[in-house]
Amino acid sequence: MALLTNVILDQLLNHTSIRHFQDKPLTKEQVQTLIEAAQHASTSTFSQQYSIVSITDPDVKAQLADITGHHWLVNSGHFFVMVADQYRNLQIAKAHDTDPYILHTTDKFLASVFDAAIATQNIMVAAESMGLGGTIMGSILNDSKRVIDLLDLPELTFPLLGLAIGYPADQPETKPRLPQAEMHFDDSYKLPTDFDEQLAEYDADVAKYYGSRSSNGRIESFSHHIVAELGRSHEVRKELLATIKRQGFLLD
Ligand SMILES: Cc1cc2nc3c(=O)[nH]c(=O)nc-3n(C[C@H](O)[C@H](O)[C@H](O)COP(=O)(O)O)c2cc1C
Repeated sequence: MALLTNVILDQLLNHTSIRHFQDKPLTKEQVQTLIEAAQHASTSTFSQQYSIVSITDPDVKAQLADITGHHWLVNSGHFFVMVADQYRNLQIAKAHDTDPYILHTTDKFLASVFDAAIATQNIMVAAESMGLGGTIMGSILNDSKRVIDLLDLPELTFPLLGLAIGYPADQPETKPRLPQAEMHFDDSYKLPTDFDEQLAEYDADVAKYYGSRSSNGRIESFSHHIVAELGRSHEVRKELLATIKRQGFLLD
């Protein structure tokens, strides 16, 4: 329970990912507003090192649904792909005859990831403030080479996240988060001495949430969920590092 409250905190604390949408596209004005909200996010070294691709072609949307395995995304009111982007700044480097080496470093790849991720969350928060909802989708990484080809992404770009936004057709219950003592420490990393007990309580909370939620209910605690994640195939995204390097990143 947050100690303070206001409309923004209320909205943040009531966030849930939306995966069922009304059949209603976003307007141009809504899309432009969401992009503007993204653009005003903090950006590392003011380098604005990400781009956003709006998917308007139904065939491309269907292919992204195939890649992610999330066929419901075709029903979203709008689909964005958030792209790490040092290509634009490479053009500036070239125009000024400047050595572009730094754009290829791990540091700059991370900066692109931070910029794109923070901008993604700004879109989510702005969308929710407009009565919309959505889901961030890392599952476009299932086949990043195909996404790169689909969107014609040049060197020094990489598709990081999808973002499905639309008018919610349901209102899922909020998922309980970890007790703060398990994830917020003073001065140094210190899991609490009663870590196991606190985790057991949290597992029970999460199990209660999954057991009682209105759709897709199941028996699952947080610990079960993490263990299940660890059991996921390594095969699907095993070419990720090679693809990121092929795009010209992480060359240091
Ligand atoms: C980086 C990132 C990637 C995600 N990828 C997916 C995804 O591919 N598919 C999906 O259904 N949800 C995805 N999500 C949504 C999470 O599953 C969701 O945020 C989490 O379960 C917490 O639920 P909540 O957002 O309803 O609170 C992603 C979230 C983040 C931040």
